[in-house]
Amino acid sequence: MSFVIWLTGPSGAGKTTLANALYEKLSEMGLNVEVLDGDGIRSQLYPDLGFSREEREMHNRVVVQMAKLLAKNGVITIVSVISPFRESREYARQEIENFMEVYLKCPLEVRVQRDPKGLYSKALKGELKGLTGYDGAYEEPENPELVLETHRMSVEEEVDAILKKAKELGFM
Ligand code: PPS
Ligand code: MG
Repeated sequence: MSFVIWLTGPSGAGKTTLANALYEKLSEMGLNVEVLDGDGIRSQLYPDLGFSREEREMHNRVVVQMAKLLAKNGVITIVSVISPFRESREYARQEIENFMEVYLKCPLEVRVQRDPKGLYSKALKGELKGLTGYDGAYEEPENPELVLETHRMSVEEEVDAILKKAKELGFM
């Protein structure tokens, strides 16, 4: 039995960047690790799936079950999906034995500045509706294992904080 690191936060908060850095670090340590990224799973499995509440909930449940299977089989699983609804994340917590929820918190101004995919720019122009963290809902975690303010920390510091917490929780 391994564990799941669930990275949640709005678009542009740094989920994918941190997931990739964690993957590199844990791989270098000789551990068996996998990343489940929301964007990647969507494009592989259901590229036409939209962003309504129902669609996001369904997609998040799929990711929960994938992560559960991987962790059960000894793979450290890093999930990077917005997962904007508490209910979906609570479902993940119920389903997955060794679970840590990490909230990537970052103010809107910084996310707008980063805007790696130009999504905020589109949202500001009214060309994209329902962008999570802009005009789309994001329900902040109430009791995550960890909150990382990604505008105040380096990616290396974030990786270290997660590994420290995983050790505290007895996962490593
Ligand atoms: S969710 O909410 O859990 O289903 O989201 P996820 O599977 O992580 O997919 C998020 C990526 O989809 C792109 N995208 C949008 N995100 C949020 N809101 C809207 N309206 C939207 N439209 C497209 C975007 O690339 C997200 O990636 P990240 O890495 O989060 O920016
Ligand atoms: Mg991403």
